[in-house]
Amino acid sequence: MSLFDAPPDRRDSDSIKWGKYAGRDILPLWVADMDFAAPPAVVDALQRRIAHGVFGYGGPSPALVESVLAHLDDEYGWAIEPQWIVWLPGLVTGLNVACRAVDGEVLTATPVYPPFLSAPRFSGRKLNRVELACRGGRWQWDKNALQNASTAATRLFLLCHPHNPVGRCWSTDELRDLAAFAEANDLIVCSDEIHCGLILDADKRHIPFASLSPEAAKRSITLMAPSKTYNIPGLGCAFAVIPDAALRRRFLRAMDGIVPHVNVLGFAACEAAYRDCGDWHRELIAYLAGNRDLVAAAVDAENGAKMSPVEATYLAWIDVRELGLADPARHFEAHGLGLSDGTDFGAPGWMRLNFGCARATLAQALARFAAACRAA
Ligand SMILES: Cc1ncc(COP(=O)(O)O)c(C=O)c1O
Repeated sequence: MSLFDAPPDRRDSDSIKWGKYAGRDILPLWVADMDFAAPPAVVDALQRRIAHGVFGYGGPSPALVESVLAHLDDEYGWAIEPQWIVWLPGLVTGLNVACRAVDGEVLTATPVYPPFLSAPRFSGRKLNRVELACRGGRWQWDKNALQNASTAATRLFLLCHPHNPVGRCWSTDELRDLAAFAEANDLIVCSDEIHCGLILDADKRHIPFASLSPEAAKRSITLMAPSKTYNIPGLGCAFAVIPDAALRRRFLRAMDGIVPHVNVLGFAACEAAYRDCGDWHRELIAYLAGNRDLVAAAVDAENGAKMSPVEATYLAWIDVRELGLADPARHFEAHGLGLSDGTDFGAPGWMRLNFGCARATLAQALARFAAACRAA
């Protein structure tokens, strides 16, 4: 039995995921948090911090910064300077701040996590979109379409890496192409790497965009957090890494007076997550990879539903267009399954399924998925 087989019951907790369908027999496999408890080392660090009893304004301790630096170096071979880090209460904040900090139009690739589509609008920026291409069952960049989508006024490229929802862990070659594209078009690349600790394939590695070359670093804003990997998004602790001093100043100016401090519990959890949770993380990845395989087999068994391999994240992106449903999200809810509606990601007729849950819950959810497909 795995430590992930019997997670705490979230039904009567403050969970947004479970609260949405309170009192209804609908399994919530939508918003992207997992049902698992945080790693024991994180819970211990939080308990120690709470026992201290004082919760005044806090900043990142030298031990926290050391934990982040060591983690980035060990995991990704990425050596950063402490002063490149800008602490944030969340990555969505970071996406919105990036849109305000960089003058010009914004480019992003769909389907994509909805705040990529709303942040430019909230910041008074025009959004240009390019569609990722799914060829031979694999999501990829269409270089011509990318170039065509980038106008002369485009200055910011929002990259999702690994990509939510299509589950790709972009390869070195793909990232090099994107870096060359950014260079040729003079774009700042804001790379959202929140899912970087969730690479499920043993033969793949996460390569931070900024680690490609000094040129890529200079035009980069990397957004990261321990929140997805260690399941602590409710603690609101994230950071941007911005190597270029002038770009960092612009980013900080755009935050001024609006973005609050990171809370002290988030700092404590982040330090422990990056430093003390290697074994827990390895077990998590094995468990999620097993869940991923079950989802892939279940989807494969249904006529009218298909998905591409999920290399990273705990999110499956499922094409249900052939089922011919007028309102797919409603249909799956009617069969006891709460999924994310692809329309919000710019892709009607697709559904996103979060498999960051206990295997018994997933088995029940997949049985409901099959019943829903057959009833379409
Ligand atoms: C790509 C991506 N960025 C950002 C977030 C949310 O970040 P935060 O909760 O730190 O604002 C998510 C959550 O699902 C995500 O998938």
